[in-house]
Order: sequence, then C-alpha cells, then structure tokens
Amino acid sequence: LLALFLASHNSSDQPIQQSIPCPNSSSMENMLHLKPAHTLFPNCFALETEQLPPAVTSSAVALPIIDMSRSREEVRRAILDAGKEFGFFQVVNHGVSEEVLRDMKSVCEEFFQLPTGDKAHLYSEDNNKLNRLFSGSTFKTDSKNYWMDCLRLACPFPGISDSVNHWPEKPQRLREVVEKYAVLTRGMGLEILELLCEGLGFRSGYFEGEQTDGMVSVSIIHYPPCPNPSRILGLPPHCDRNLITMVLSGAVRGLEVFYNGDWIKVEPLRNAFVINFGIQLEVVTNGIMKSMEHRVVTNLALPRTSVVTSLMATDDFLIGPAEELLCENNPRRYRNTVFRDFMRLYNKALEESGGDVKQAIKYFKI
Ligand code: OGA
Ligand code: NI
Repeated sequence: LLALFLASHNSSDQPIQQSIPCPNSSSMENMLHLKPAHTLFPNCFALETEQLPPAVTSSAVALPIIDMSRSREEVRRAILDAGKEFGFFQVVNHGVSEEVLRDMKSVCEEFFQLPTGDKAHLYSEDNNKLNRLFSGSTFKTDSKNYWMDCLRLACPFPGISDSVNHWPEKPQRLREVVEKYAVLTRGMGLEILELLCEGLGFRSGYFEGEQTDGMVSVSIIHYPPCPNPSRILGLPPHCDRNLITMVLSGAVRGLEVFYNGDWIKVEPLRNAFVINFGIQLEVVTNGIMKSMEHRVVTNLALPRTSVVTSLMATDDFLIGPAEELLCENNPRRYRNTVFRDFMRLYNKALEESGGDVKQAIKYFKI
C-alpha cells in the first residue's frame, strides 16, 4: 500500500492522455465513479506541476490528536493551542459511537455502488439546490476540474426530520443513518466550540444561536482511483468558509494541510474526526484561531470516501471580530460581513485572485 502511495506521488509519471474532450454536457455520465476504469483524462483536469507541489515525506510535523475523554481543562487548552497553531486537529474519544461511524461509512460506500438508475434523479449542477449529487468533473474552480464525486445533503436544525424526505431512498438505511450521524456530529462540533469558548474567555454559549443555527451540510465525497495523481487533485487548495468542519474518512490518505510553507499529510486514525476551523472562526476570533489551507490529493489504486459535516451561521448573522477580544492592543483586523454576503464575496474574491486563497481572505481584512 505504501509503495503504491509513493508511486502515485512520483512526479515523473506522465499524463496518460490529454486529448479527449472535457465534459460539457449536464449529465450524470460525467460522474467519475460510474466509469469502470480511468486510463484517460481530459486536459481540464491536468494541473501544472508547480500547482501541485508534493507533501513533505518526513513525519516531523503532525496534527495534534486530542483525546476528548481527558479533563475539561486539558481538552480546552489542547483545542486552543491546536487552533492557534494549525486550525486543524484530530479528536478521539469524542462520544460518537463506533457503531454510528461504521454505519455511516457503509451507507456512504453503498450509495456510490448503486446502479446509475437509482441515483440519476439526484444529479444536478445547480449549486443552489440543497440536496444533490454532483461531480468535480463538471463543476469548475479556476477552470480546472477535480477528481471527486459528491452527494451533498442539507440538514437544517431544527427540522432535520422533515428534510430527511428529500434525501435518497436508497440505500435503504441511508436516511436513518445520516440523520443520526448529523445530529451527533453537530453536537460534537458544538461541544468543541463550547470548549473553545471557555478557552477564549467568552461567555458560555457564545457560538450557539445565530452563529451555528444555519444549515448543517453533510457532504459525502467519493474520490475514485485516479490515472495521474501527480497532475490531478481531488480538491484544490482552499479554506473552509464556515465556522467549523468535521471530517470522517477511512484508512486511505489524501487530505493535506499547508503548514509553514509545506504540505503535510493528515495521517488516518481509526474512528477519529479531523476538525478544521473555517474562515468565519478566524474572523470572529480576530485572527487568534487559524483557518488553514488544505487540499485533497488523489490515489492511483484506491478509492477514498470522506464525510464532511459543516456548521454554518444563519444568513443574516453579522460575522465580525468578537467585541470581547478587541482592545487597544488587539485592534480589529477584519471587517463585518453578513453571512449571506460572506459566502458570495469570498467566492468572488477567490475567482478574481485566480484561486489564490490568501489573496481572497485579504478581502475581509482591514
Ligand atoms: C472539504 C474538504 C476534505 C476531505 O470538503 O472542504 O476539505 O478529506 N474535504 O474530503
Ligand atoms: Ni475543506
């Protein structure tokens, strides 16, 4: 496995074929996971080698692993430290049972194995559609395509039980399993935010209410084996725009974080969640908590599935540095923006900067 993984990062592998046309029709056939094997790929997937610098191979830097069963004081401190340094960490003993994680992983894998006819009605390229199946082979960022397929499910709170009816009917257990999973992971996210609140000296419940009562989205992302990992990414370098994201994935590597000028690999850890702070949290904490750039690399031999749960603010919530933190020595570093505009403006800034995340974030800075 390791040999395959290293081979997939060999920068000397050549693109196999770049002359077939890019997908342009709005059709389910563009989904990568439905094709039997990939020996060909169109030009629009291939990045320049400079755009895909390999991750460092030494394991000198690793994301902190936080055991949530330790004392509250210890966990609070660990979250604060990890948030300041990496904006990324893994949590274990987080309270979401092994059974829930196992069920979630299996329904996700079963979903992507369903025959086309069972999911064609879910396919859509309309980003405003709350529940949809789409592919990075058609949605474009910076005119490039990415090697991923995704089922995104909207989980509003309160009201998740009603939205379940808009989710896929197959596999049979999907609705029940995803609902339970969404409730529990949201609860875990709120608990982490509450611990952070204590660490920052905010009043209890600071992150509850408008700040996290918007949509919760659960994205089930499937990254099929890829013909040329040295030129094709699963997800481009990005920062999450929301407050907090919780990622569950299996034993296959792929997620990488940009830290101190290097891409570092996130090591898979059984039954752990990878927690990642978004730009919203960076703004609210006036830059104390970091939102770090991350990407997903592809793999020549193995498929990878991850489940990404994001907590969002309500549309009208005004995102800006918490008054509690501002003083003469810590002047405001970000401007206030309503959540609805925040998402839109960030996308626009990202487009204008040609996908440069750091440039895009500057838009919100003073
Ligand atoms: C994301 C993301 C990571 C993964 O969806 O924003 O960073 O491992 N996903 O799929
Ligand atoms: Ni992300």
